[in-house]
Amino acid sequence: MAELLYEGKAKQVYATDKADEYIIHNKDDATAGNGVKHDQFQGKGVLNNTISCIIFDMLEEAGVKTHLIEKINERDVLVKKVEIFALEVIIRNITTGSFCKRLGAPEGVVLEQPIFEMSYKNDDYGDPLINDDHAIAMGLASREEIAFIRQETLKINELLKAFFLELNLKLVDFKIEFGKTEDGEILLADEISPDSCRLWDVETNQKYDKDVFRQDIGDLIETYKAVLARMQK
Ligand code: C5P
Repeated sequence: MAELLYEGKAKQVYATDKADEYIIHNKDDATAGNGVKHDQFQGKGVLNNTISCIIFDMLEEAGVKTHLIEKINERDVLVKKVEIFALEVIIRNITTGSFCKRLGAPEGVVLEQPIFEMSYKNDDYGDPLINDDHAIAMGLASREEIAFIRQETLKINELLKAFFLELNLKLVDFKIEFGKTEDGEILLADEISPDSCRLWDVETNQKYDKDVFRQDIGDLIETYKAVLARMQK
């Protein structure tokens, strides 16, 4: 049995016999509100893994460097070992969520320019919003690394927006994570799935993401299956 190195809310990370490769296992857990709301949905890990691998392959083809080596099976991926930056990198294209809650801003406004945000990935402090200077002062990343992450994230936003629009879905906002290899190369890591993106139907604005769980407004598995079905069409 491979050594379990880390267990998060929805994933486990295992060692492999190669020092620079890990296996990520996707669990069926869903959490919201920093783990306050927690449930299990049979098959969620498979759906997330399938969706995320399709998206990472698309991004790789478009020149984005990611941690993904290969999908091993329905739930597991082989990835390059990286040290994850303790940053949640967020892009907003349409206002909603914590942006509206925090600032009292109106919901559903299409932004003229995407908003780039970073949060300090730390559950004990509720993943607080931080700026570049905070991140540098806290030793989370260097100014050059943040500049690269920002540029890469804006590029990923354009690629994802176009990808989802083909599926008749608007990319409202999303969260991604980056990691650094031992050689100092910065790679897109973690996952991209309806857990970490907000997706609204172009015509109806129906939600096709984890908000159906966060807000108790729909069936999570059926919703994620519908996203995958649009991708496989
Ligand atoms: O909650 P908030 O509006 O800040 O979320 C912005 C985006 O980041 C949403 O797409 C949400 O799914 C994602 N997110 C995430 N993990 C977090 C916080 C936000 O995937 N811990």
